[in-house]
Amino acid sequence: MLKLMKVLALVLFVAALALPMWLAKPVEGQGGTEALTTDMDAKTDDLFNGFGARGTPVDECVADPQPPTARGNGRFEDNKFIFSESEGVADGLGPTYNGVGCVECHQSVDTGGFAQDMEFRAGHITNGQFVDAPGGQLVHARGTDSDIVEHISTAETEKAFRIVTSAIGDGFVECIANGTLQNNVAAQPAAQRGTLTNVPVTEANNALRVGRFGWKAQQASLLSFAGDAYLNEMGITSKFAGGRSSNDPAAGTEENPCTTAEGVRDCTGPPFDPVADPEDDGGDVLAFADFMAATRAPGRQNPIPAAATRGDALFNSVGCAVCHTRTFQTAAPGTLINGGAFTVPNALGNKIIHPFSDFALHNIGTGDGIVQNAGQGSANQMRTAPLWGIRARNRFMHEGLNITITDTIQLHAGQATAARNNFNALSAQQRSDLVAFVLSL
Ligand code: HEC
Ligand code: HEC
Repeated sequence: MLKLMKVLALVLFVAALALPMWLAKPVEGQGGTEALTTDMDAKTDDLFNGFGARGTPVDECVADPQPPTARGNGRFEDNKFIFSESEGVADGLGPTYNGVGCVECHQSVDTGGFAQDMEFRAGHITNGQFVDAPGGQLVHARGTDSDIVEHISTAETEKAFRIVTSAIGDGFVECIANGTLQNNVAAQPAAQRGTLTNVPVTEANNALRVGRFGWKAQQASLLSFAGDAYLNEMGITSKFAGGRSSNDPAAGTEENPCTTAEGVRDCTGPPFDPVADPEDDGGDVLAFADFMAATRAPGRQNPIPAAATRGDALFNSVGCAVCHTRTFQTAAPGTLINGGAFTVPNALGNKIIHPFSDFALHNIGTGDGIVQNAGQGSANQMRTAPLWGIRARNRFMHEGLNITITDTIQLHAGQATAARNNFNALSAQQRSDLVAFVLSL
């Protein structure tokens, strides 16, 4: 008996040695491993996915946080701290803006996630074409001076609210190769096929890449989105401020002019905006991008309820998964992406993710009428909303006006009509199982 135990122990010992080697060994061609996930519980310290150094939580009394000088060379805890900071007028905030810090709108259930805040866009139609409101299509809610708080005229007939989209897990989305997204869309039935658009990558001299972030898939890189958000949500300029919130030739290099009740007013310098441009040297923007890129993918509800398990197959059979693509694999480590400006790191490369989105635009009858950088045809299209982490939100569709998944499904028309009808043809039990599945993501 003792001898048998010894042999068994030896076998287990050898297996324990061999297992990590076997697990770590990449299989050529397929080689994907599941991305690390967060349990979507702010009380669990599990957001970091291993991209770059982790560092230690910042204590400002001891030392200021240090931003990266290039993508990936900073520390996660410092980047997270900078993402969570509030800015004031002396930092360049405004003159018009929507919020004082990224975390104000990207907070729940963990830093980088969601909030119920909305931004507002407006424009009008001239000769059948969407044209931005005079001071830019993004109409800010706040200002540092009552004289320049934005008021649009009744001439702006195309108006849309848009709620926050979560950025948790977006580093993996950034690392999906263009070709992977294109092949996925090409395999969709013609009637449901999505539209992918090439959009400029600010940090790569506006080289084009397939857009994937935002309600209109208007950005392709996290650095470009972060520069856009710093400028367009907070009014802080930097060398990474591209953005497509205005047709003004100076858009991106300085804030947009202010649309006031007395007309468009140049508010981008003193006295309204006392800080010289660029207001940030780019370090904050790198910190935002790298923080988001270093977050884990939203993980499934745990344990998964029996109803959700039953609803899993229904999600495919009624046709939801056509647009809400379950699985992607990111490009291999070492692949140059973002117009050559970023190299896929080990922590993000060859990772299998389940975003439940094709990141493509579709006309499902909910289009907000706004055109960003995907051409006039995109006015009535929206990006398939990624459903990962949706159980942690309760304001759905781009306007955030739906509280239940069932109401949300009923709004699916156009290219999603068949899926909605199939859903409605299910038994009451099956419909409730499918909803349970969505709310387990
Ligand atoms: C006032 C609220 C607000 C603030 C402040 C804000 N955002 Fe956002 N964020 C939004 C909204 C609304 C969207 C959806 C925008 C759209 O598509 O039109 C969004 C979308 C995003 C996305 C796209 C995520 C995805 O996968 O679609 C990223 C990335 C992002 N924000 C980063 C930032 C960063 C970085 C900051 C700080 C510089 C920031 N945001 C500040 C409201 C905000
Ligand atoms: C033809 C493509 C398509 C199909 C099929 C489709 N959807 Fe969608 N879905 C979208 C688009 C596009 C949006 C975003 C629309 C908007 O915000 O205006 C969306 C949004 C959603 C949302 C809201 C997510 C959020 O964050 O606000 C849910 C939930 C959803 N879909 C579930 C489903 C379910 C369940 C099915 C199957 C019954 C389905 N969808 C079928 C394209 C599709």
